[in-house]
Amino acid sequence: MIFKPKNSPYNLDNKGVYSAWREQKLALYPATAEDLLVTLSGDPNTAGDEYAAMQERLADFNMVVYAHSPIEADEPMASKKFLNTLIRRFGLLRLDAHQCADDDSISLLSVAEGGERKRYIPYSNRAISWHTDGYYNTPDHQIRGMGLHCIHPAADGGDNQLMDPEIAYILLRDENPDFIRALMHPDAMLIPENDLGDGEIRPPQGGPVFSIADDGSLHMRYTARTRSIEWRDDATTRGAVDFLTGILSDDSPYVFHHRMSAGEGVVCNNVLHNRTSFVDDDENKRLVLRARSYDRCVKELDN
Ligand SMILES: [Fe+2]
Repeated sequence: MIFKPKNSPYNLDNKGVYSAWREQKLALYPATAEDLLVTLSGDPNTAGDEYAAMQERLADFNMVVYAHSPIEADEPMASKKFLNTLIRRFGLLRLDAHQCADDDSISLLSVAEGGERKRYIPYSNRAISWHTDGYYNTPDHQIRGMGLHCIHPAADGGDNQLMDPEIAYILLRDENPDFIRALMHPDAMLIPENDLGDGEIRPPQGGPVFSIADDGSLHMRYTARTRSIEWRDDATTRGAVDFLTGILSDDSPYVFHHRMSAGEGVVCNNVLHNRTSFVDDDENKRLVLRARSYDRCVKELDN
């Protein structure tokens, strides 16, 4: 599909299309995490109504929560295979080879006892603030789709909150369309260079918060972190960021709350998400798989 800005709801001049699209989106709320949930009974290779149900959630909310019975044998390889097969069905084919990911580009998120992973919050039991994945990636390696799969939850905590970026866009635009202009500015959000260790430096990465992908979809690049980030220095950008912070509050009717049990996961178009801190004990150590993709979920592929 060729993107035609004049037909896009994300074109600020296009008030009619925006208002029809906005009405459709907001009519889906209030909604809870249960509305996102699809139970998968079988092998991810088998077609069925379950995949149509997943597709429907993705179309409506840009995310779906699935529940599958825990996979006992040969962990974590069996769950990796399950997750990879599942996300491929939704078109997440090109996976991001993150530096802490395994050779298959799927990361095992657990508390790191040492090594390179220990430097990063996802590999600790600390809370992770609101973000979309890969906000520090280059423009041609933006993360459009993602899959998470819980092999084992923590003894306590490790809950996720999720929000559809299209809802964030609507709330910001309704408040002040100039907030959208500011957040679409190519210099809106700069991630300074980062010392990755061993003499490797990740260069600074600037870019917009909201952008329109080639297929016409909305892409969001965001982190709520306050250190190691430079927002464009103007009043409207500051106002937009403050307003966005307020949107992402615990009691928002647009925020989904979910704690993944063993065998559960999320497939999404890199929606806004966070994670609460957690506590492991000897019996219950949190282990979650994460696959990031340069592809966005599309209607189920014929295999
Ligand atoms: Fe994340």
